[in-house]
Amino acid sequence: MSIEPIYEARNIVRNFGSVQALQGANFDVRPGEVSALIGDNGAGKSTLVRILAGADQPNSGELFFQGQPISLGNPTDARSRGIETVFQDLALANHLDPIQNMYLGRELMKPGLLGRMGFMQTSEMREVGRVAFNDLGATVRNFTGPVGGMSGGQRQAIAVARAAAWAKNVIFLDEPTAALGVVQTKGVLDLIRRIKDKGIAVVLISHSMPHVLEVSDRVHVMRQGKRVAVLNSKDTSVEELVGAMTGALDGKEAA
Ligand SMILES: Nc1ncnc2c1ncn2[C@@H]1O[C@H](COP(=O)(O)OP(=O)(O)OP(=O)(O)O)[C@@H](O)[C@H]1O
Ligand SMILES: [Mg+2]
Repeated sequence: MSIEPIYEARNIVRNFGSVQALQGANFDVRPGEVSALIGDNGAGKSTLVRILAGADQPNSGELFFQGQPISLGNPTDARSRGIETVFQDLALANHLDPIQNMYLGRELMKPGLLGRMGFMQTSEMREVGRVAFNDLGATVRNFTGPVGGMSGGQRQAIAVARAAAWAKNVIFLDEPTAALGVVQTKGVLDLIRRIKDKGIAVVLISHSMPHVLEVSDRVHVMRQGKRVAVLNSKDTSVEELVGAMTGALDGKEAA
């Protein structure tokens, strides 16, 4: 019996001039599942995620959300469907502090006239934000400075906490631990498990095969702009994943 995907991409093509970044890529996410998306540098992972997140549009191909065809003009279209993304370049507003980044575009306003005049529930936002960041292992010590002045790892933790706070259906994490230390990486892997426990689908892009095997249910392997294999994490190995990435196992499908 096949499980209905909550989100699916079929036959996605994306060209940048003469570069064929995606050459008919398929992808599917099941509800409450952790999927890993792996592949060598330039395989097309980030391009696919940007399209699934509404940040880029394909030249051709289709997206289906909860079984319905959709088109996404921008990331807000995706967010309105409960789809959140940590982009590889993080996409933070450097002049704002961590909490302001977390609530960017979704500020909690005071009730009534004050809210309509633009007054925000600052203390409530600060409290909820602080808890979310602390959940990740307290990487963020300074909640009031602009994130542009923070370390790569702190900025990464802020982007992950923000996406986790708002995701309702699917969260894409494009190399969320690339800049993190050991403790913070463990914090993100734990967070992925907690998000999954809430029934939210997680898509993790990572070059760390041990991390991929540790947290994911299925692994999607991309090579040269296409998904070339889907493997069940519990039945595969680092060796098999590397084989798939380099082309030795093209076409193998998970049950
Ligand atoms: N905006 C762009 N303009 C031109 N070429 C692009 C652009 N974005 C991606 N590409 C090209 O598309 C291909 C796929 O890139 P993509 O970033 O999707 O790979 P990736 O699998 O995420 O790699 P990595 O593991 O290095 O992050 C690469 O050849 C890249 O140079
Ligand atoms: Mg990438």
